[in-house]
Parts: sequence; structure tokens; C-alpha cells
Amino acid sequence: MFEGIELDKIDISANPPAEEPVRQYYFMAKCRRWVMDFEYKNGRLPKACVTTFGCQMNARDSEKLVGILRQVGYEVTEEENADFVIFNTCTVRDNANQRVYGRLGELKSYKKRNPAMKIALCGCMMQEPAVIEKLCASYRFVDLIFGTHNIFKFAELLCRSFEGQGMIVDIWEDTDQIVEELPVERKYPFKSGINIMFGCNNFCSYCIVPYVRGRERSREPEDILREIRRLAADGVVEIMLLGQNVNSYGKNLKEPMSFAGLLREVEKIEGVERIRFMTSHPKDLSDELIQVMKESRKICRHLHLPLQSGSTRILERMNRRYTKEQYVALAEKIRREIPDIAITTDIIVGFPGETMEDVEETIDVIRRVKYDNAFTFIYSKRTGTPAAAMEDQVPEKQVKEGFERVLKVVQDTARAQVARYQGQTAEVLVEEINAQDEGLLTGRMSNNTLVHFPGPPELIGRIVLVALDKCQGFYYMGRMVL
Ligand code: 5AD
Ligand code: SF4
Repeated sequence: MFEGIELDKIDISANPPAEEPVRQYYFMAKCRRWVMDFEYKNGRLPKACVTTFGCQMNARDSEKLVGILRQVGYEVTEEENADFVIFNTCTVRDNANQRVYGRLGELKSYKKRNPAMKIALCGCMMQEPAVIEKLCASYRFVDLIFGTHNIFKFAELLCRSFEGQGMIVDIWEDTDQIVEELPVERKYPFKSGINIMFGCNNFCSYCIVPYVRGRERSREPEDILREIRRLAADGVVEIMLLGQNVNSYGKNLKEPMSFAGLLREVEKIEGVERIRFMTSHPKDLSDELIQVMKESRKICRHLHLPLQSGSTRILERMNRRYTKEQYVALAEKIRREIPDIAITTDIIVGFPGETMEDVEETIDVIRRVKYDNAFTFIYSKRTGTPAAAMEDQVPEKQVKEGFERVLKVVQDTARAQVARYQGQTAEVLVEEINAQDEGLLTGRMSNNTLVHFPGPPELIGRIVLVALDKCQGFYYMGRMVL
């Protein structure tokens, strides 16, 4: 929260201030007035629901949306039959888009029953002109649409939607602005994501992210460190530094700083026990980073290192700027330097021009690197990316066959990797009550492996020692030791 601003003291009869973030606090104060009117008329607070699609970045953005909704007085619920519903969308693969359209159909039926309901859409999918055209033509019941670059303006847009009628669409093509000090409400009290940079400059040929998230912009280290200090003071023990390509953090700052340099500073913050980060591009992973990880007590033993393909020919067409050999050599170096690290990855099957020989190359890398986990995706054609224009799209049958072969090998190696720690004792951050069995707690090892064990809910948010009694596929059943 921006220190020194109290919403009740803002004069909303004055003109809105021009500078940020005070401008947004002015609009929050205005929205709060509207919420109070609603409460007076209906005898209850209005309810808001934020639904997130996609990655950790979107999850963090949603926490910002929730922060503002709470500030203005909404009761936040997980039920989509609410007075205000916002979908924070993803567009990295087409099935993410299709799910949004499907769920919008459900919202339409809620709105029929509650015509005062407001529906909003934001996030990556909204940065695609074809999506906006479709929404404007066939989804007129949506009240508010904005994109990734102006999410900081949410309070202002919300206010406009209270004051006016009809669909509001506000999409920016790009921005170099980073607005600090807006409210955020964390989903978990004990862990938090922190954006360290926005956007991506890599233009992998299949990927839509650079088009919808814009050019790379790093936050100032002081802003990041201040946010983490505050989080630590508020009880956060685990932080996840977020960026599309954290290894190129800080290159364009007025006073450049490397990602490894930033990690060294974060490490010094008292109260922070665990540091994670996501995502690393292999081409930019420095020896300095490996060294910092090796020496650190707090940086978790986990590295997510997207491979995408194990075929040098395909990697070149993907514009990944490393070869199979370079990737394997990097993974081997990391394993040599930090033997207890878990390496996870992303793999795409069915990229244009991919043959079964190329798939075999990918499988060869999986066997050599021995991933602890891998997310395997079927290639999805994204309009506007270079790969979408490539002629040799792979037939569906071949894609399926390749996908299943990759999945099988990934599962076999992951199972063996995860089982490496059976019989040992590990520090586990307790995250929640087990979803299937209320008597059990679920937590995570430093290397990100899940562990279930009996214990009281009071331990949630604490780091405890657990004996890893039995590996069951991709997780452990354990027992607390003290
Ligand atoms: N099709 C399939 N998977 C994709 N990814 C990104 N773009 C596409 C696409 N067009 C995957 C990559 C990336 C992860 C976040 O999503 O593997 O690492
Ligand atoms: Fe997409 Fe490549 Fe950027 Fe990752 S590094 S967001 S895959 S363009």
C-alpha cells in the first residue's frame, strides 16, 4: 500500500491528479463511494470474483486486481455468480483462449439473472486485435476490457464503468511505464511472487508473449528490495522472483545490474528463508548465477530451464539461440556444481517441420538431463508469430505419437529423479491442508517436490523437518521429525 494515502481523506470532488500512483488512489476513493451506495441500497456489500488463467505472472497480476477490489470495499469470492467478475486471460496456447470463450458463455447466463452484474476481461488475450474484434462483435454483454500494459489503471477503468453504460475497451500497444506502490492482496500469507521485470525481447518463433507483453522492462532494484522487505516484515518466508526471462534482468536499467547481483541483495533480507525464480532462458544463464546459487543458503534447489526441443535444427527454427549440445553441457555443468538441484523444463512437440527423428533428439536430452519434472505441450499455432507462417505444419497423428513418446520418457525419468531422496530428511515449507485427506498437511521441499504428512494446520507457513518415508510417483509421504 502506498504509504501516507488514506482513501477517506481524498477529495473526490476535485479533478483527478495526473501523476501515478496517486491518480489511481483517487479513483479507488471514487469507487469506494459507489460500493458504499451499493451497500446502502442492497443491505450487503457487492461481491467480486477474479478468475486467473495462465502463468505465475498472471497469478501475481490477479493479486493486484484483488488488492484494488478489496481497497474499494468489495467482498472477494471464488464464485463466478458475483456482482463483478473479471477474467485475467492467457493466450500462450489456443486452448487457453477457447476456455475463456466457454466460460464467458456461463457468465452470460449469470448476467441474465442479475442484469446489474459487471463482466470484465483483461490479460494477454486482450492484446490480440482479432480477440477484441470477436468480443466487440459477439460478446456485447462484456462491460470492460483492458490489456496487460494498462492493468495499473484498473481502478480508473472500474470507476468509468460505474459511471457509464456500454462496453469500455482500453488497450495499449506497448508501454515503458512501471507504476509502483499499488495495493496487492496475496493469496498465501507466507509466500509471494514479485515481478522483477515485464515483457520479453526474445521472439522465439512460436511464442506470442513478446507481442502481448511488450518489450523487456526491469524494475529498479530498490523498488524490488523495498517490496520484499515489506513482505518479509509481513510474514512472507518464500518469495518467487518473476519474469519471462529473469537471466536478462537489469540489462537496460540506468545503472545495469545482473540477475545474480539482484539475488545477492535479496539474499541479505532478513526473514526471507527461501528464494525461487522463474523463468530462465538457457542462452542467458551465467556462471555468476550458478555460483550465487551454489553459495546461497536461501535460493531453492530448483531451476526451471525450458528446453522446448532437443533438436538443434528445430531449435534454430524456434529462434532459441542455443544448440542441443550447448543446452546439455549447461545442464551438466549445473548438476556438477549443484548436485542436489532439481531441473525442470518445458517441451513443445509438433513445431512446424518436426520429424520423429527430431522428437528422438528431444528424448535423448530428457534421458541425459534427467528432468525432475517437465511440462510437455503440443505446439499451438499463434497468429502473428513467425512459426504460424511456416508451411510444414505437422500432421495431428504424428504430433500425438511424438507427444505420447515424450510424455512416457519424461514420466519415467521424473519418477526416478524424485525418488532419489527416499529415506532422507528434508526441510519442507507447509503450504496447506491436504485436499484429499484433512489429517494431512502438504508442503514443498526446496527442490519443489511435494510432501504429504500428518500434522496440525497451525504449521501452515512454517518450515519443518520431514522424513521422506515413501516416494509415490512424483511426491512423498512423510513424517515430521523434531
Ligand atoms: N505452442 C505450444 N507451447 C507454447 N509455449 C509457448 N508458446 C507455445 C505455443 N505456441 C510453451 C513454451 C513455454 C511455455 C510457457 O509455453 O514451452 O516455455
Ligand atoms: Fe516466449 Fe521465448 Fe520470451 Fe519465453 S523467452 S516468453 S518462450 S519468446
